[in-house]
Amino acid sequence: MARIALVTGAGSGIGEATARTLAAAGWHVVVCDRNADGAEKTAAAIRGSGGSAEAVELDITNIPATQAAARELSARHRLIEAVVANAGISGDGVAFEAVTEQAYDAMMAVNVKGHFFLLQALVPAMKQTGRGSIVVMSSMFALIGHTSMAHYTAAKGGLLALSKALAAELGPAGIRVNAVAPGLIRTPMTEKNTGGDEAVFVQRAARIPLRRLATMQDVADTVAYLVSPASAAITGQTLSPSGGEAFTD
Ligand code: NAI
Repeated sequence: MARIALVTGAGSGIGEATARTLAAAGWHVVVCDRNADGAEKTAAAIRGSGGSAEAVELDITNIPATQAAARELSARHRLIEAVVANAGISGDGVAFEAVTEQAYDAMMAVNVKGHFFLLQALVPAMKQTGRGSIVVMSSMFALIGHTSMAHYTAAKGGLLALSKALAAELGPAGIRVNAVAPGLIRTPMTEKNTGGDEAVFVQRAARIPLRRLATMQDVADTVAYLVSPASAAITGQTLSPSGGEAFTD
């Protein structure tokens, strides 16, 4: 029987690539997204290439609905063994002084609070079986900071710190928790943020040691490693598919 992985925000970008990669590695993937069409498209593509997936429409900022869905999925599948907390929003680049309370709350609601309570509802089944691997999608910004994204960076830092707290608390129950902190990845999110300006991506790539941006597939492969037996002794760690990117502007 296939092991079960749940990926949030899997209707687009990095989450979609991750869902496809996990399915190709033999996982049954629960494709969650607030965008029902996106989730269905990803799940259908996986099934079309011989994999196993189901789509679940879920807005993780709705905490009661998120916890109800998590409990239903855990009961139906017995164990969601891998969880990829990937859904996120980036918002517009704005100066620190211009971040409104509303924009701050929206950022925290998806990136931190939604995943906090999703994981809270999924962990009991993992504890019962003594197996589980959680990966949170943080950002390189959380490691080194960045201009014009203070609320996003704070949210990604919160998520990263959560992964460390859970690694400590859940490790004795056999559950591993790690973070992935990508650099700039070309996805629908960043295409939108940059207005599709090719020069932004080219200039950024020219400044990083590997002289290329990491791709959605690079991130998906990092996640696949972190949920595989190959990383059985790895917990509380952060891996950064970023080509070595290390600047803050
Ligand atoms: P994307 O915009 O292509 O995909 C994000 C997905 O999350 C979308 O399908 C969206 O519908 C879903 N989503 C948003 N809010 C949701 C909610 N409340 N409930 C359920 N689903 C929700 O973005 P991308 O670039 O693939 O980003 C994925 C993750 O990677 C995000 O957490 C992002 O912050 C993170 N990341 C992205 C980087 C990049 O350069 N693209 C760099 C570092 C981190």
